[in-house]
Order: sequence, then structure tokens, then C-alpha cells
Amino acid sequence: MNFKDKVYIITGSSQGVGKELAKQLCEKGAKVVLNGRNESKLQKVKKEFDLNNHSTLAIPADISSVEDCKELISKTIEEFGRLDGLINNGSITMNEQIEKMDGELFQKIFASNSLGAVLPTLEALPYLKKTKGSVIFLSSLAGVHGLPSASAYSMGKMSLTAFWQSLRAELVKTGIHFGICYLSFTENEKSKRMVTANGDLIPVPERPKFMVQSREKVAKEIMSMISRRKSKKVMSVIGKVTVFTMQHFPRMVNFIIRNVQKNKG
Ligand SMILES: NC(=O)c1ccc[n+]([C@@H]2O[C@H](COP(=O)([O-])OP(=O)(O)OC[C@H]3O[C@@H](n4cnc5c(N)ncnc54)[C@H](OP(=O)(O)O)[C@@H]3O)[C@@H](O)[C@H]2O)c1
Repeated sequence: MNFKDKVYIITGSSQGVGKELAKQLCEKGAKVVLNGRNESKLQKVKKEFDLNNHSTLAIPADISSVEDCKELISKTIEEFGRLDGLINNGSITMNEQIEKMDGELFQKIFASNSLGAVLPTLEALPYLKKTKGSVIFLSSLAGVHGLPSASAYSMGKMSLTAFWQSLRAELVKTGIHFGICYLSFTENEKSKRMVTANGDLIPVPERPKFMVQSREKVAKEIMSMISRRKSKKVMSVIGKVTVFTMQHFPRMVNFIIRNVQKNKG
């Protein structure tokens, strides 16, 4: 597929997988809308892209706000005149026990992972119909089985499967491509933070190298999903084994997760 002059919005592209995907799309000649809530961080990233003569637009927006999402799409169309793809990547990660959380924090994390993919999609659909473009949802293994200390995150990621299934069926005649990608353990940026109770932000613990997939590899796989219009992808061997086991031996997976938790006390 030729990405040249195609226009993509990547939510949450001021760091991590989103930023790497933006880089790879730009290198193929695409125009990319960068997004995140933190405006200064976003402008810094845009400058990096400008230095490489990449065509980008930075739009600070909270993807869990209807008004912000309307602006995200309208400013994109104003600048580039078309939209070929929306990658729903923005997300707040958490590490907190449910009993320590209040409703407001739960709502914020859930919204960024669930409505944060729904709201930009709703606004983008009319433009994607014209180009028969793509909508990609970035889910997680937490979207396959709910994980402890990640309740709001798991709920948000699992809801993406339902939304993707509904859209794929309902909008089959539009020619829009809807894809969902279940990421496994992926290399994190040093600046990545997880939310705890009281809204504190803490660094993500390092994972053993053999368990993680590089951001480059993940972004490459997403590019291939777009160009081959694939509807579903599970990343990495660990991810594939987990999903297979979950589908065929769900009680075993449930047993293992509960026992790990019991042994933690
Ligand atoms: N890394 C992994 O191991 C892993 C595993 C499974 C799934 N995933 C999924 O893959 C995607 C990328 O992960 P990552 O590790 O690259 O994440 P990350 O480093 O935490 O980056 C998240 C991005 O989302 C933005 N963001 C958060 N809330 C937002 C909001 N409400 N509105 C707009 N932007 C928002 C952040 O910028 P601001 O803070 O400035 O808003 C940041 O740019 C996520 O959907 C994640 O759930 C990752």
C-alpha cells in the first residue's frame, strides 16, 4: 500500500508506540496528526518530526472529551482536507487495587481507554467513508482477560472488542476497514507512567528483555495491518499463547491469575 500523502491521526502519539508509529508512517510519506494532552510535550515531539522534514500537525486534545474530539477531527480536515486513518492508541495505564480507588479516578482511566477510542471514531467516520480508510484499535491482553490492579484499564480495553465487532458488522457496506490489535508486553518509554490511587503517577517497572517486543516491531505490525486491511492481530508469541489458552482453556487461565494473586497475599 502506498502511504504517500495519506493522512492519519494517531491519538496519544507524544511518546511510546504512538510516536514510533507516527515516525514510520511519516517515513513512508504520510501526513500525521500527533495528539496528547500535554501540549509542551507534544510540541517538543512535533519539533523532532519537523527536523526530519516530516509533515505533521500537533493537536493537543483529551480523547475522552466530546468537544476535544470534534476539534481533533475538524482541525485535521481544515489542515489536510482528508482523513485516511485513525489509530486509537491513547491510553492511561494503572496499577492500583480497586478498593483504594475512587469513582472519579476509575472513570478517568476507563474513559481514556474506552470512550477515548469511541469519540474520535464517531467524529472521523464521515471522512473515513469518503476515503474507505482505516480505524485501528489498540487493545491489550488485559482486553482478553481482566487483570488484577488493572480493573478500569481491563474494562476499557475489553470494551474495544465489542465496539470493533459492532462497527465491523454495522458499517460493512461503507468499505471502512476496522482492525483491532491486542498488544502483549511492549518496550515502554522511560517517561511512561502508571496511575495509582490519589492520581499519583509512578514509573512502570522494567520487564525482562526476553518478554518484551520492541516498539519498532509493534509499529511495523500495525502498518502491515493497515496496508493489508487485516481485522485482527495478536502480538508476540506470549500474546498468541495467552489468547489461545484463554479461548480453549479459560478456567485454567482464570485459575493461574487468581492463584498468583492469592500468593501475593
Ligand atoms: N506498552 C505496553 O506494554 C502495552 C501493552 C498492551 C497494550 N498497550 C497499549 O498500547 C498503546 C500504547 O502504549 P504505550 O506504552 O505507548 O503508552 P504510553 O507510553 O503510556 O503513551 C500513552 C499516550 O497516550 C496519551 N494519552 C493518555 N491519555 C490521554 C487522553 N485522555 N487524551 C489524549 N491522549 C492521552 C499520552 O500523552 P499525555 O499523557 O500527554 O496525554 C501518551 O502520548 C496503549 O493503548 C496501551 O494501552 C501497551
